[in-house]
Amino acid sequence: MTIERTFSIIKPDATARNRTGAINAMIEQAGLRIVAQKRIRMSRQEAETFYGVHRARPFFGELVDFMTSGPVVVQVLEGDNAVTAYRDLMGATDPAKAGPGTIRKVHAQSIGENSVHGSDAAATAEKEIAQFFAGNEIVG
Ligand code: CMP
Repeated sequence: MTIERTFSIIKPDATARNRTGAINAMIEQAGLRIVAQKRIRMSRQEAETFYGVHRARPFFGELVDFMTSGPVVVQVLEGDNAVTAYRDLMGATDPAKAGPGTIRKVHAQSIGENSVHGSDAAATAEKEIAQFFAGNEIVG
């Protein structure tokens, strides 16, 4: 058993449709523990920093516009192999390709408005968590 942490965002399309609780229920049912959580409005600068790796992609502007368009819920999730476990629970980036029972299959609307983000690796998770949470805000 490898207990690790991952970073999650419940995106503006999901908060706009009041899906935070339903998504959190799926997270908890999957055995992941929400050890930190806050609802924020991301600034453009925060979104540009967060998605810096995608800066050269054609959808970067659209992505930043979307992520700053409404409230998001940033979270730290903890559990056995949390990074992989949460990516499995989210399903494919494109909800049309997401498997049954995944968050994106159930809640997402399109590849851009895909309801949730999860870190792609443990090292990324550490960096993403540090962008949004101080150590004393994470209570495991
Ligand atoms: P996320 O896991 O938050 O990381 C990068 C995001 O870019 C991804 O989820 C999608 O929401 C978004 N994305 C990826 N491909 C596209 C695309 N073709 N058009 C718009 N947004 C995209």
